[in-house]
Amino acid sequence: MTNTASSLLGVRFIGSGSAVPDRVLTNHDLAQMVDTNDEWISSRTGIRERHIADGEEDSVASLASKAGQKAIAAAGLTPQDIDLIILSTSTSDDLFGTAGRVQKLLGAERAVAFDLVAACSGFVFGLVTASQYIHTGTYKNVLLIGADVLSRWVDWQDRRTCILFGDGAGAVLLQASSQNKPENNLLGFEMRSDGKGNEFLNINYLGRSTFEPISMNGQEVYRFAVRQVPEVIEKSLHYAQLEVNDLDWLILHQANQRIIDAVVNRFGIDPAKAVSNMGKYGNTSAASIPIALDEWVQSGKIQPNHLIAIAGFGAGLSWGSAVFRWG
Ligand code: UT7
Repeated sequence: MTNTASSLLGVRFIGSGSAVPDRVLTNHDLAQMVDTNDEWISSRTGIRERHIADGEEDSVASLASKAGQKAIAAAGLTPQDIDLIILSTSTSDDLFGTAGRVQKLLGAERAVAFDLVAACSGFVFGLVTASQYIHTGTYKNVLLIGADVLSRWVDWQDRRTCILFGDGAGAVLLQASSQNKPENNLLGFEMRSDGKGNEFLNINYLGRSTFEPISMNGQEVYRFAVRQVPEVIEKSLHYAQLEVNDLDWLILHQANQRIIDAVVNRFGIDPAKAVSNMGKYGNTSAASIPIALDEWVQSGKIQPNHLIAIAGFGAGLSWGSAVFRWG
């Protein structure tokens, strides 16, 4: 098992899109709500502002379908071309799943759609899941969306957590390579889980149809991320038979600038290759990697054939990485 697919149909990355709510909440706004300040938040996390859902308008389904629509258009496809929609979310509009609503909003009538719950690892786990359907020839066009509205689940009086999170959605369109030209651009991946750390980050069921707000032991999660993320990146690079210096871009889950800096230092790579946009969006959970990816694609920084490593980490505990070539 090499976690690559040499003899099967390959995965191509043919479009991206993203969407965030209009409403912006700055660190200064938060300082009016809890005992905090811009200096503490920006120096400890790198976050300056985040977009927050505003009523019905900004559901998981609406943000996800806006991001999905853009990814479909960027790929030059129509909703009718989509075979499978995977919606990675941990903040579903409906506990039975939100992917069906996204399918309806997109008008992707041929597609089968389901949710995948893996918190901040959701985009990486969703990418690997999608790739299995593509490698086996089951589905050709797969829309993978990471979308979360964590603002619904935050205790807005808890300064340790409410400063971290933002809402949004990001999407990529994955397509099977043709039989005649079997290129595979998903080069390697590694996924991990450790339920022993579940207590460090969760939204627990309280009873009587209610859940507690998000609860996090920040220091434990920070230590876990800095220790485990480099390891899974090394594994996926190993499966891809690449070195860290071959990478054009490193896109980590946007949780804390200090976590990105620690991983950059550990690998000794050029900090300019480490994508960071959490200053504007905060931690958007499953959406953070595809929002960052889309922003770098839209600005022309990510070009076809660029080599990209992504890594997600968070509740579960779960973490994972994938290495791919854009295009
Ligand atoms: O997406 C899932 C993955 N999640 C993560 O990756 C989160 C990882 N963890 C972190 O990013 C960091 O642990 C935090 C940003 C959450 C916290 O940073 P920290 O450097 O670990 O701070 P701390 O929790 O050790 O708190 C230091 C101090 C405490 O005061 P005392 O006890 O030393 O007097 C806190 O009460 O800072 C205080 N504090 C605050 N002060 C002002 C905590 N939150 C705030 C705040 N404003 N918002």
